[in-house]
Amino acid sequence: MDAAIQPGDDARDPVPTRRVHVITYGCQMNVHDTRRIVQVLRPLGFQETPDPALADLVLLNTCSVREKPERKVLSTLARLKPLKEARPGLVLGVCGCVGQQHGEALLERVPYLDLVFGTDNIADLPSLLASVEHGGRTSHTRRMTHDDYRFLEADPAVEAGPTAFLTITKGCDRACSYCIVPYVRGREVSKPPEQVLDEVRRFVASGVREVTLLGQNVNSYGRDRPVGCGFVGLLERVAATPGLLRLRFVTSHPADADARMMECFARLPVLASHLHLPLQSGSDRVLARMRRGYTISEYLQKVEMARAARPDIALSTDIIVGFPGETSEDFQATLKAVEAAQFDTMFSFKYSPRPHTAAARLPNDVPEAEKAARLRDLQALQDEITAARMLRLLGRDEEVLVEGPSRNDATRERTSGGRLEGPVQWMGRTSTNYLVHFPPPEGRPVSPGDLVVVHIEEVLAHCLRGTVRGNGEGRTRGSG
Ligand code: 5AD
Ligand code: SF4
Repeated sequence: MDAAIQPGDDARDPVPTRRVHVITYGCQMNVHDTRRIVQVLRPLGFQETPDPALADLVLLNTCSVREKPERKVLSTLARLKPLKEARPGLVLGVCGCVGQQHGEALLERVPYLDLVFGTDNIADLPSLLASVEHGGRTSHTRRMTHDDYRFLEADPAVEAGPTAFLTITKGCDRACSYCIVPYVRGREVSKPPEQVLDEVRRFVASGVREVTLLGQNVNSYGRDRPVGCGFVGLLERVAATPGLLRLRFVTSHPADADARMMECFARLPVLASHLHLPLQSGSDRVLARMRRGYTISEYLQKVEMARAARPDIALSTDIIVGFPGETSEDFQATLKAVEAAQFDTMFSFKYSPRPHTAAARLPNDVPEAEKAARLRDLQALQDEITAARMLRLLGRDEEVLVEGPSRNDATRERTSGGRLEGPVQWMGRTSTNYLVHFPPPEGRPVSPGDLVVVHIEEVLAHCLRGTVRGNGEGRTRGSG
């Protein structure tokens, strides 16, 4: 079995003396990587600060999946330049996908940048910082080989709140023709199940109640090397963890999400009622050119399977408009598929040609204005569907996992005679992943990590509002 890289030992972590500010772009994988970055910096005496002006180290954890977030890296660096000029001792670094992709070239392009490192190099950060502090601008993007790959073991001490992400695979072995991820993140490597289970147990012991398993394609877990079980086996084992209230996973590839996986939603109650199943296009012709490996009718069968296993399941998806050669008939097919699938949420994007991808060799022939118009039409349709799906929750009692004070209320604590009484509003999520705000129930305390039953009284554009059922008689399972 692989030896995991151990997290810093809390007891030996020094008193914080330095501050780090990490700006995170892109997917949940980057959010997870940012926690690991904070984790490896703790033994060096770093603590996080929300204010870059107070930081000794500012890192941009970047995304290169589309051109827009990639361009944002340069504009953010330009915004940070005055901080660096005012305090030359500040260390400014770029990591994540843009760091991996451009490496040394970024140092050449941005003269005030000190540090670049890649997606496989988070554990090397202490030695990279040491070389920067000794006066050298440093770039390090060496990728670990498949057999050498070691996952950093997650340290629950750096998680903020009752929910946590946990990587189960890194990289991607598929080759969707538009996607830069296999180039940037490399071949797929599966984390040994013993490590996953150990991390989940340690998370739960430290107060985490909901875990999201992460991978570019979670369904192919275990295919790259013998790890003792596939994705379904892993789900079964993780689901059995005592004290874990909710289990989620992203992302499922529709070609690999099979009937056995869908049946898990019927068999494993701890699985949250939510499935992210990226469709990308509703046209078989475009799907083939994207090399997605399924037809629209196969996709819709998967949707049926998921709903048969868990009738109230919420589905979310990703869609790209304006892929090379996408005609208006192809786009109409996408609208039809979206209507048929009735997604709860959609993330939609204009196609953006990426280097090192097969589609970059095709003419990017859908004009920008047409892409924008298709995106608008698609989003307008989805907004209607989302509103209708959310309206079905009105008047229902929903189990909500409390995450913390509502964001706007975090600083507006209730006080009574100078005594702090907690936030004005709490927020949490339904099993179907809808955001719910509710006032503190009279006569009973609520804490992050509790499961409460909320009566939904109002449906807003992006969230729900309600009150905890029956003067606080909602279930609380916050310990374990
Ligand atoms: N252009 C536009 N969208 C893209 N995505 C991935 N690559 C591209 C690209 N080149 C979208 C896909 C994927 C999501 C994470 O980003 O929809 O599922
Ligand atoms: Fe990219 Fe396709 Fe892999 Fe997802 S499955 S990361 S879209 S190549």
